[in-house]
Amino acid sequence: MSGSRSGRENAGHDCGDCTSKRPAELLSMYATAEDGIARRTFLVQSGILAAMAALAACGGADSTAPGVPANSQVNVNDFPALANVGGVAMVSLGGAPVAIVRTSSTSFLALSRVCPHQGGIVQQFGTRFVCPVHGATFDLNGSWIGGQRTSSLHQYTTTFDSTANTLTIS
Ligand code: FES
Repeated sequence: MSGSRSGRENAGHDCGDCTSKRPAELLSMYATAEDGIARRTFLVQSGILAAMAALAACGGADSTAPGVPANSQVNVNDFPALANVGGVAMVSLGGAPVAIVRTSSTSFLALSRVCPHQGGIVQQFGTRFVCPVHGATFDLNGSWIGGQRTSSLHQYTTTFDSTANTLTIS
C-alpha cells in the first residue's frame, strides 16, 4: 500500500459518521422539528377554532351586556332616588341587572351592572360603581376609572317621557 489515505480520512476524522450517521441524525432532527412546528400549528389552529365555536355557540352575544326586553318601561315615580339628579336605582329588566342614573331633569343613563372584566355584578358606593370580584371601579356614567383594568359598563338606549314620567330602555 502506498500509505495514501482516503479523502475521508484526510479530513482529520473518520467521515463514515458524516455520510452514514449524521445525515440520518440531521434528517431525524429536522423531522422532529417539523413535527413540532406542525403540532404547534395544529394546536394554535385548534385553539382558534375552539374560540370561534364558543363565540358561535353563544350567538356572539356580549355576556357583559345582557339583552333587556325591547322597550322595557320603568316608572320613575317608583324609585324615589331618581327624583334627584345623580340619583341611582337598581332594577332588573328581564333578569338583566341594570343601574339607572338620573343625569339631568330630563335625561337618564341605563347601565349594565355586569362587569366587563369577568362578569361580576357591580355595586353602587356613593358616586361610584365597584365590582366586588377584582375591584374595577366606574363613575356614575359607567366609565372605568380605576382598579382592575377593563372597559366601561355597557350603556342601554333610554327615552324619557317627561309627561308620563316613564323611562323606556332597550
Ligand atoms: S369581574 Fe369585575 S373586576 Fe373582575
